[in-house]
Amino acid sequence: MKHLLSIADLSREGIEKIFKKTEELKTQWKKGVVSSPLVGKSLALLFQKPSLRTRVSFEVGVRQLGGQSLYLSPDEVQLGKREAVKDVAKVLSRYVDIIMARVFAHETIVELAKHSGVPVINGLSDKLHPCQVLSDIYTILERRGGLKDLKVAFVGDGNNVANSWLLGASKLGINLSVATPEGYEPDGGVLAQAEEEAKSNGSRVEVIHDPVEAVKGAQVIYTDTWASMGQEEEKEKRERVFPPYQVNQNLLEKAKPDCLVMHCLPAHRGKEITDEVMDGPQSIVFDQAENRMHVQKGILVFLIGGG
Ligand code: CP
Ligand code: NVA
Repeated sequence: MKHLLSIADLSREGIEKIFKKTEELKTQWKKGVVSSPLVGKSLALLFQKPSLRTRVSFEVGVRQLGGQSLYLSPDEVQLGKREAVKDVAKVLSRYVDIIMARVFAHETIVELAKHSGVPVINGLSDKLHPCQVLSDIYTILERRGGLKDLKVAFVGDGNNVANSWLLGASKLGINLSVATPEGYEPDGGVLAQAEEEAKSNGSRVEVIHDPVEAVKGAQVIYTDTWASMGQEEEKEKRERVFPPYQVNQNLLEKAKPDCLVMHCLPAHRGKEITDEVMDGPQSIVFDQAENRMHVQKGILVFLIGGG
């Protein structure tokens, strides 16, 4: 049984398999061809935090493949409060074929997976957001036709999305420069793991503090919110620290002329990204959002659909 808690859980071949399946399913979907590899399968969607993309893309995606989903809101299950995490894992495993969970503490999803009899997918934790970055890399691949000699600049908060970018880039041989303010760098353990992995895959990952240096030669600039879900009380402080890391036209002009702009969304327009850039010709944020659904269909088939 395979879980997907981190991109590090997947081999390079596994990721390639997911991307191949994604492409096949997306092509069929575009032509209106129905494919139902998940008939009879149920997916539980367990949330401790809000969501638009993750919830809708998983719900619609699994239904398109013939399966069904069940949304469990934060108030319903009250993971770890109303009931112990391990008991929730054991009970849900008796009903459904796969669980996706969005949690605060990463340890919660590790605990869920430990006690689950069915695969568990991380739909975001305070440490990682693997489904997001897998679909981001797929989106780049789709746009550019390959990942060779690619340089991605992640500008902003070194949180869950940045951590998953370190793991994804290093696994697939993408050069990644992460620029954050001091004190907001990605997880040290994740960085060490990514540096090691990047070496064996012929790429370079780095964490620096200068956004202009990071975007130099970049074909993709990526950003995320300055205050993540669960960090609401730090919002004002962060809004004083992060402005030099705003993705605006001035910064974009320092990258390669054809540089693409990405954001996992939700975006805080006028904060980490300007309207001009987000709505501009180099932005692919909505293609990126759409691909969440296609890649997650690929992930579901990979984990429980026999391929
Ligand atoms: N990008 C992302 O995960 O969006 P949601 O929080 O809306 O699911
Ligand atoms: N870093 C953000 C990502 C949202 C998709 C958060 O955790 O809120």
